[in-house]
Amino acid sequence: MALMEKHAILEKSPTLLLVSSLLVVTVGGIVEIAPLFWLENTIEEVDGMRPYSPLELAGREVYIREGCYVCHSQMIRPMRDEVERYGHYSLAAESMYDHPFQWGSKRTGPDLARVGGRYSDAWHVDHFTDPQSVVPESVMPKYAFLLDAQIDGEYIADLMSTHRFVGVPYSDEQIELARADFHAQADADGDYGEVEDRYPGAPVGNFDGQPQLTEMDALIAYMQVLGTMVDFSTFTPDASR
Ligand code: HEC
Repeated sequence: MALMEKHAILEKSPTLLLVSSLLVVTVGGIVEIAPLFWLENTIEEVDGMRPYSPLELAGREVYIREGCYVCHSQMIRPMRDEVERYGHYSLAAESMYDHPFQWGSKRTGPDLARVGGRYSDAWHVDHFTDPQSVVPESVMPKYAFLLDAQIDGEYIADLMSTHRFVGVPYSDEQIELARADFHAQADADGDYGEVEDRYPGAPVGNFDGQPQLTEMDALIAYMQVLGTMVDFSTFTPDASR
């Protein structure tokens, strides 16, 4: 009997068709869903990944509030054109402390997963204040108002506790000293030692060039850390997994 004729038996019996469809969907479902229960061992641990510092985390909140993800992705796909343009493809571990993740699905502007360190702080201030002054054909909106939005980290420890609640490993010390670190990271003539101890590799300095601490400082701190935590000159994928 040819295959199509065998299939005709199925198609002529509604009950048999229903039962076999269910069977097919069940097997397919198990194959797709079961690995997720062992997800913890499917994400490779990578050296250098650390939770965001208080100021970076605040900048990330600005990023989410302003909907930057509507125009920008933060995920470099493992394809040659992407890797040549943006750098090493994104690793799962690189967004393991992102709640919610900012992979995005639309690129009106470039991917930002590795924008950290690509431009100076001053470039970012000019670009956010008036993107067209730097890139005349840009369709990015102006965010000059961030320079006037002062912040003092009143709720930053609470925000970090919330992130800890969903699995980000902030220590008691990091939460206790959150507000101090929040200010220290952008202090023009500050002592960055403690911030750098608690958040290795954190970008430091007076990001927006103004004496007061603003959302512009926070957003630039966040931009400058993106994609810089993993050292790709020493990174080798773990093939044993
Ligand atoms: C309407 C779409 C749009 C929105 C919203 C938007 N951008 Fe952009 N962005 C662009 C475009 C287009 C470019 C490329 C031209 C340019 O550099 O201005 C760009 C460029 C950038 C760059 C330079 C990237 C590079 O590698 O050259 C950064 C950084 C950036 N945007 C950050 C942000 C942040 C942060 C926000 C939210 C506060 C934001 N953008 C909101 C469209 C947008």
